Amino acid sequence: MASGFWSQNPHVASWFDTLSAWWRSDPPRLLVAQQHPLRQQPVRGVVCRIATQEDWKLLPEFWYHWFSISSRCKCVVPLKAVQEAVAEKRWDIWVSVREDTGQLIGTLVRRHIKDLKIDAARWPTAGVVDYFCVHPAWRAKGVGRLLLTLLHNSTPAPIPPHLMFWEQAIRLDVPCFSAGIFWVKKIQPTQSMSWEPIQDTKDRDRLWSSCIPAGSVTANGGWKETRVWRGPEGSVAVWDTFHTTVPECERVGIVVGATSDQALTAFCNAGAGSFGVLLKPADSIHVPEGWEYDAPYVWFAYNTLLGLKPNSVIGSFPCLAF
Ligand SMILES: CC(C)(COP(=O)(O)OP(=O)(O)OC[C@H]1O[C@@H](n2cnc3c(N)ncnc32)[C@H](O)[C@@H]1OP(=O)(O)O)[C@@H](O)C(=O)NCCC(=O)NCCS
Repeated sequence: MASGFWSQNPHVASWFDTLSAWWRSDPPRLLVAQQHPLRQQPVRGVVCRIATQEDWKLLPEFWYHWFSISSRCKCVVPLKAVQEAVAEKRWDIWVSVREDTGQLIGTLVRRHIKDLKIDAARWPTAGVVDYFCVHPAWRAKGVGRLLLTLLHNSTPAPIPPHLMFWEQAIRLDVPCFSAGIFWVKKIQPTQSMSWEPIQDTKDRDRLWSSCIPAGSVTANGGWKETRVWRGPEGSVAVWDTFHTTVPECERVGIVVGATSDQALTAFCNAGAGSFGVLLKPADSIHVPEGWEYDAPYVWFAYNTLLGLKPNSVIGSFPCLAF
């Protein structure tokens, strides 16, 4: 029986380490500085490797069918977005394929992020794991573990923090740094022109800092999927998740910042920049009018000891500007 990726891994903080760091008020730090290659548990008939240009072409369809675990939406990533992300060195992509047929059966994307700030700690570069997906027929066989191990072994030491987002999957044996629930709102289409996405980078950065809560986990992930909108009532930042609802095909965005609740309400009333559905990390137990509870989410940080912060439990979705 293969051992788990998260168990007995010196790069994964234990509850004991986490509580001790919190008790001593230690600032966040890396767990392990030297190179520690992890042993790869092979999966018979499966090869994992960095994706080629030929693989990229298969990714949109693969993710469309298998990435979203919700029956209410599908993942729709344009091939151009994949090509640009790799060309601009924002993404590294690993794939698993069947040795006999070459069929794509698994993917993992590492997004490079810059200037990650967690409390007093700063890292010039870090990673976010995304599009971690294994074909249903191959799940629970170690293919995902193989991809995570490959990511680890391909990253030069010291491995900077790698943030991992798990939707609808609560795992209690590993301390998380942010957990919560999304609220969801369906947007009524309007013709309103009062809210515009900000193109100028100086304006965008200024508005972005006014949108995000103080003390948030922040980083710059390239600004290709996140937009800041300005309107008469304030500013709102939304990350385009590249997911659409089924059967309506409406775009799903996550609100990663807003100058006020009023600004967000006004943005929604003005058509929410053509998103059909908005998710917002819940920041209180009172669900605002027009919103409903949706799925839970959890963020983990790999090779990072964060300690627990009072604001780390609810509503502190990281502000990463992908
Ligand atoms: C998550 C998924 C890729 C796991 O693939 P798999 O081949 O079944 O996984 P394995 O059996 O090899 O186990 C993978 C390990 O990764 C863990 N894991 C699950 N979701 C994870 C995530 N988002 N990030 C990092 N690790 C994750 C598993 O708990 C398991 O840990 P363990 O080794 O300590 O037991 C697969 O279930 C899947 O495609 N799910 C649908 C897409 C999805 O939800 N992706 C995660 C969000 S990015």
